[in-house]
Parts: sequence; C-alpha cells; structure tokens
Amino acid sequence: MTELKPGMPAISTAQTADTFAEAPFMQALRRQQSAYTPVWLMRQAGRFMPEYREVRAKTGFLELCHNSELCAEVTVMAVQLLKVDAAIIFSDILLPLQSLGCGLEFVKGDGPVIHNPVRSLADVEKLPQIDCKDSLSYVLDAVKAARRELPGDIPLIGFAGAPFTLASYLIEGGSSRNFEKTKRFMYTERRAWDMLMQHLSKIVSEHLNNQIEAGAQAVQIFDSWIGCLGQNDYIEYVLPHMARTISGVSKKAPLIHFGTGTSALLELMKQAGGDAIGVDWRIELKAAWQKIGHDRAVQGNLDPVILFAGKDEIRRRAEQILKQAEGRPGHVFNLGHGVLPETPYENVKYLVEVVHELGRK
Ligand code: CP3
Repeated sequence: MTELKPGMPAISTAQTADTFAEAPFMQALRRQQSAYTPVWLMRQAGRFMPEYREVRAKTGFLELCHNSELCAEVTVMAVQLLKVDAAIIFSDILLPLQSLGCGLEFVKGDGPVIHNPVRSLADVEKLPQIDCKDSLSYVLDAVKAARRELPGDIPLIGFAGAPFTLASYLIEGGSSRNFEKTKRFMYTERRAWDMLMQHLSKIVSEHLNNQIEAGAQAVQIFDSWIGCLGQNDYIEYVLPHMARTISGVSKKAPLIHFGTGTSALLELMKQAGGDAIGVDWRIELKAAWQKIGHDRAVQGNLDPVILFAGKDEIRRRAEQILKQAEGRPGHVFNLGHGVLPETPYENVKYLVEVVHELGRK
C-alpha cells in the first residue's frame, strides 16, 4: 500500500470497515502505528468559523441541532475547511435533557438555561423514561447524513455528555462556576443522586450505541466539568456510574473519555473506562500519559488560548506536545478544550497544518 501523507485520502472509493481501520485517527485510538499524528479539534464547527456564523445568522442554535441535513452540512464543512482527520457530528450534549422535558433554551450571551431544574427526590422521580432512538432520532439522522456525505476515509465521532456533567446542568439550571447546587444535592440527597445518575447513565449509553449503529466510527463522552470534584468524591459519587455508562457502550467503536481540570483524576477516569483519555493543558502530556498508563491512548492537549498567540507560538507549542508523545502510538492531537468563539480562523487552520507537518512518523 502506498505511503499515507496528511491530507491524502487513504482509499478514495467506497467505504469498508478496512477503510476506517487504516485512518490515522482510528489507528491512534487503537494504539497502532500511524503514518502521522492525527488531529481534530473540539468545537471544530463553531462560531470562530465565518461559514458557521453564516448558517447561524439564519437559524437558531436549537433549530439547527434539530435540522439533520443542516447538522450534517456543518459537520462536513468543518472537515473540508480545516482538513482535520476526524469529523464530529454537529449536535449538543444537552439535547437529551430536552427529551426529558426540562425546558432547555439557549439564551444569547447567557448560554444554556434549564427552565425546570431538578432540585429534589420528587423531581428525579418525575423524570420520564425516554426512548432515545425515538426522541433523539434527529441526531441519528444527522449521523447517517453526515456519514453519507463525508469522504470515505474520514471517521465520524458521535458523542454525549457524561452523567455528572449533564446532572450539573439539570441541577444548577444552566452553567455554573462553583457547582454549589450540584454538590449540595450530591452530598445531601444520596438516594436521589444515585437515581439521577443511573437515569442519565442509561440515556448516555443508549444514545452512544444508537450513534454507533447509525454510522459513527468512534464516540466521545464529555465530562467537561468533572474537574470540580476531589478524588474521594469522584470515587464515591461518580466512578461507579461512569464505569457502568462506559461498559454499556458497544466495543465496536473506540471510546474517548474526556474531562477538564482532571490532572488529579486521570487514573480514576482510566479506571472508569475508555480506550483514550482526553487531557487538558493544566498537566503536561507526558506526565498525563504516565499517570494514565501507556495501555491507553491519549487525546490533547493544547491550551485553546494559544491559538490567539500567533503562528510562531502555535508551532512551538504544537511541537512541544508532539515531542512529549515520544513517537509512541496512541496520541490524537487536539486542544485541551473547545475552540473559543473569538479565535482567529487562520490560526486554527495553521494548527492543523503544523501538526500534520511535524507529526509525520
Ligand atoms: O465539537 C463540535 O464541533 C461539535 C459540536 C458540539 C457543540 N457542543 C456545538 C455547540 C459539541 C461536541 C458540544 C458539546 C458540549 N455542549 C459540551 C461539552 C464540551 C465543552 O465545551 O465542554 C458542553 C458543556 C455543551 C453545552 C453547551 N452548548 C454550552 C455551555 C453552550 C453555550 C456556550 C457557547 O459556547 O456558546 C453550548 C452552545 C453550543 N454548542 C455552540 C456550539 C457550536 C455555540 C452556539 C452558537 O452557535 O451560538
């Protein structure tokens, strides 16, 4: 087989299981040698991109999320413009909460608002049992449409929020800085907490399995806010739920377990599961991989704010991260968290180019 170079399709004909097996992103998740370090970016389709802002000028965010064809279009657009090695389905982690009837709204400037938050055992007991295939069918249709429209060598990532991060939105009623309501609920309403986590865990596993069945090659669980917990709280209130969630997901697709602020939680996140662990910039990649163990892949970990610093700094920092992977198979390059809305578009494009150039094996 010919040597693979960044930006060169592995196979340009029809998709087969083998097509994806040879994609550098899939190889890295399976800790197999790849021709170069694959790169994709969390929030690679987002407001930093003029083409995305154009779509959003005409369509509300939730309206866009419910429009499967438009979601597929935005998903594919990001891959074509940035030349990343994987696509992520355009969707949102909070959509399953809408299915639960919690009154989800995105308020301009304020982010997500949950109009019917969960604050008691009675509120948890009132949450409906949902059929994810039915109530989130529009996400699955987007996965199918994106899979049809993507190049045959670009793997598609499905995703869901982790139970803790979803519970935090449900309980706080939106975004939060200190998670007081979430933690108070967790510490004082043990039975209700476990019921809520179990309910969310089932939804997350099901939604990920449905996305795999619809055509996703890999999945990512976003436990974005888990870093607000100490180790003992993670062990007591989260780890068993996370382990059950992950073990409920089909092994057909590798799973990336991501969080931020997790320097002290990486070993525990590994225990909970995942083929790859997503790491942020608060810890050096080399140290993170040592803590996790080299029997897992890692994803990360450039500080998204470096993308504001100019090309020389982007190149220098990308090179540092690649060096820390020490040529070991199993590194997927990414940011430590999503691309920020004000990021200069040219710098995002440059990062992908530079990782492809410097990450050749
Ligand atoms: O990565 C991608 O390109 C795929 C799309 C994606 C979105 N949200 C689209 C989105 C993904 C993977 C997510 C995940 C998500 N959503 C997370 C986990 C990742 C993270 O950032 O920690 C979280 C916590 C959410 C919840 C959420 N959605 C918030 C807090 C907000 C408001 C803040 C913001 O950035 O505006 C959103 C909105 C959202 N989700 C946008 C996008 C592109 C911006 C909405 C807009 O167009 O105005």
